[in-house]
Amino acid sequence: MPTVLITGAAKRVGKALAELFAARDWEVVIHYNHSEEAALDLSLGLQNKYPDRHFPIVRADLSDGDKFVALLMDKLPAPIKGLDALINCASVFEPSSVAETDYHLLRQQMAVNFEAPFMLMQAFYQLHGSGAIVNILDTRIVNNSWSHAAYSLSKKALMELTRMAALEWAPGVRVNGVAPGPVLPPPDKDAAHLKKVAADTPLKKVVGLNDLAESVWFLIANSAITGQIIFCDSGAHLKG
Ligand SMILES: NC(=O)c1ccc[n+]([C@@H]2O[C@H](COP(=O)([O-])OP(=O)(O)OC[C@H]3O[C@@H](n4cnc5c(N)ncnc54)[C@H](OP(=O)(O)O)[C@@H]3O)[C@@H](O)[C@H]2O)c1
Repeated sequence: MPTVLITGAAKRVGKALAELFAARDWEVVIHYNHSEEAALDLSLGLQNKYPDRHFPIVRADLSDGDKFVALLMDKLPAPIKGLDALINCASVFEPSSVAETDYHLLRQQMAVNFEAPFMLMQAFYQLHGSGAIVNILDTRIVNNSWSHAAYSLSKKALMELTRMAALEWAPGVRVNGVAPGPVLPPPDKDAAHLKKVAADTPLKKVVGLNDLAESVWFLIANSAITGQIIFCDSGAHLKG
């Protein structure tokens, strides 16, 4: 049975990805940091629905050195023996302009959104040598909006890494990205804010969790694609 590790899988986008891969007969390793209760709920719910699988949960802080690499790659809980896919979904999204970004904020954004995916991708490649990786990016990779400067730069770097690793690791490991537009409001904003952002996209709609999850599924399932970025963003990237 194929197995995927999804980072930041307890809630929101990561949870939707876990549910879709579980429904398509995959074993899913659920990574979380603070959301232990949500991770347990998701795991138990999936175990009830699909009793042939385990859906283990693994806690790791992706901003704390590189200890998480051993936890998420070398020492996965039994009976998980290896991984066929890795989805880097965990992220932090802090507002701050270039002028306002301090060292701590820059370090945090780069650590969780770029350096952790980098180290996990590298370990996945070294341990398995085959399989597929999908990095969750953001439609902001095509513009120079400075409202979330460090976040946007971390995702731009992850996009470049996606293409570089795709070339270096072919033909063994495929590496792709999905760049979402407005899917869910950030914790400090409400649904009205999300609607306003979505109204500004060419398709004038919020991106459905299922549409986003299907984009990720497509990239994992299609063995002829590597180095590709799918914009699942209601067309937002067209406006730059
Ligand atoms: N939401 C959107 O509309 C939208 C739009 C564009 C792009 N995206 C991208 O899509 C992905 C998912 O979005 P989302 O809104 O679901 O993300 P989110 O809720 O902001 O974050 C997902 C998870 O990341 C984990 N995380 C944060 N800091 C961590 C750390 N230091 N160590 C380990 N895990 C950490 C958290 O896990 P715990 O809760 O367990 O701590 C959190 O639940 C992200 O990559 C995001 O950039 C989302």
